[in-house]
This record gives sequence, structure tokens and C-alpha cells, in this order.
Amino acid sequence: MANMSKLELLDRLDFERDPFKAVNYKTGDSSRIHRIVSMAVKARAMVSIVGERGSGKSKAVIDALKNLRVRQVAVRSLDKFRLLISGIERAMILDLSDEKPKRSGEIRARQLRRILGEASRKNEVVLVIEEGHRLHGMTLRALKSLRELDWMGETELFTVVLLGQSDPMNKSGMAEVKLRTDTIYLQGLTHDEIERYIQGTVGKVFSNEAINAVKSLPEARNFLNLQNMLVSLMGRALADGREKVLPDDVKDEFGVGQTDTSKQADIHNIKVTKKEDDQKGSPALKAVLDRH
Ligand SMILES: Nc1ncnc2c1ncn2[C@@H]1O[C@H](COP(=O)(O)OP(=O)(O)OP(=O)(O)O)[C@@H](O)[C@H]1O
Ligand SMILES: [Mg+2]
Repeated sequence: MANMSKLELLDRLDFERDPFKAVNYKTGDSSRIHRIVSMAVKARAMVSIVGERGSGKSKAVIDALKNLRVRQVAVRSLDKFRLLISGIERAMILDLSDEKPKRSGEIRARQLRRILGEASRKNEVVLVIEEGHRLHGMTLRALKSLRELDWMGETELFTVVLLGQSDPMNKSGMAEVKLRTDTIYLQGLTHDEIERYIQGTVGKVFSNEAINAVKSLPEARNFLNLQNMLVSLMGRALADGREKVLPDDVKDEFGVGQTDTSKQADIHNIKVTKKEDDQKGSPALKAVLDRH
């Protein structure tokens, strides 16, 4: 079953659609993001949301902004490391007006000031930058200055939401910007949230004991990791001719060192540590998590 695709596997287990795509759960982290983004917009602040790959940052921010009905500017450029402030200026001009960004830096800055000034009188303007941890320090510092543009006596004309897998301000020379930025670190899913997520997605093919075993794995605290882990467990059960995932599958797949994984005490001994990005515990878990 190792080479069966996720969709094929779900089909074999009688799912009519990808169960992970259809759900949107409120979690401790997503609620915090909603509250903080809402406060940031009211204060036109700069916030940085930091969490592992797949921890639900983008989804929560998109939902939060949808509820707030703000005017959103998204920087589409994929290579955030090379993104310069001029790229951000262009994105803002394009998203907030029908005008073409001027070529000259000085004229463009004045153009942006006018466009931002006018737009911000109608709606709150929010600049969202994904992969914020890749931004160059120079661009972050220039972003701070861009926020200080003024229009008709008002300054800080827009809100900035940076999303990153590590703190974008953890670079030398960032003290100035760091002081003006609120940073929120995501905590990951709680045991109850993991259980609710499994029940609401692929719960029908997991025994309660298997769910208990999964929810105690530290790696399961992250949506994307959890999805991958659940898919591999389903693959393992199918390979064994079963349509139900049992606690032993969790033990075999993720290398729990005990025979009876249904015992909570044993499950709590599972130590799959995740240090820097790619250093994962057991080879099996590493293989699953590396799929993305
Ligand atoms: N609140 C939620 N409810 C249900 N599923 C979720 C939720 N948040 C995230 N997910 C699932 O987790 C996946 C990853 O979420 P998201 O893209 O928001 O992570 P991210 O933190 O932005 O990751 P990256 O750092 O790679 O950009 C989503 O595609 C979705 O399947
Ligand atoms: Mg994201």
C-alpha cells in the first residue's frame, strides 16, 4: 500500500471526497489568530504570526480577514528572499487602484501615498506577506518606513500581517522593527483538538484506542503532519486487509517501543522529537512527514 496515492486510498475506504479538504475547525490557535488580527486591524499594527509549516496560519488569517471585510493586499511574488520594498509598493498600487505603478522610486512613493491615503479612508487596508521569515532585513526595515507614510495628517495607513515558519525579526539589526511588531507563536493542536479533527475527518476508520495513540504523538499537533500520519496509518491497515486502524498500527508505523499501545501510560512514552526543520525521530515518521 506504500505506493497507493492518498485519493486512491480514501476511495478504497469509501470516502467520496477528500475529508481533509472539507473541514475548518476552530482551535485555540485559530481563535487567537482571529482575535489578534482583528485587534491589529483596529490599531493598524504590524503583527507577525509564527508557526511550523502546516500549522494552519494561512487558513486562520484568511478566515479572520474574510470576517473583517478589509481591503487586502497580497504580495504574489514567490521568491520572498529577493522581495524588495519596491515589489511591495507595486503590489499595493496594483491591488488598491487601477493605476500602473510608476517606474521612478520617488514618484512611485508619492503615488502609493495618495492611493493608500484614499483607500484607507474607505476601508482598512491590510498587507499580508506569506513566508515572512524569508524576507530580507532591509525589506523589513523599509516596510516599517512605508507604514510611516502620512496622508492628510494621518500616519500608519495600513496593517501588516507577516506569516512565517520562524520569527522574521530574528535577524541582526531588526531591533527597531521588532519593537514595533507583535509576534504570535502558534501552540499547535491540543489532544482534544486532535481527537475532534480525527473524528470529524477519517474517524470512521479509526478505533478509539488508535485515536488515543495518535493524539499523544507530539508530531500530531500540526495539521499537515497529522494528515500525513493518518493517511499512512490507513495505508497500513488496508495493507493488512483491514478497514479499521488499530493501536498496533500506530505502534508499528511510528515505532512505539511497547507492545500494548492502548495503555495511556505507554503512549505517553512515545518520544518523537522534532528539532530543526528536518530532524525527525523515527525513520518511519520521518518518511511520512517528509512527503511534503
Ligand atoms: N482550522 C483548520 N481546520 C481544518 N483544517 C485545517 C485548519 N487549518 C489548517 N488546516 C489544514 O492544514 C493545512 C495547512 O494549513 P495552512 O496552509 O494554513 O498552514 P500554514 O501554517 O500556512 O503552512 P505554511 O507554513 O506551509 O504556509 C490546510 O491545507 C488544511 O488542510
Ligand atoms: Mg501558509
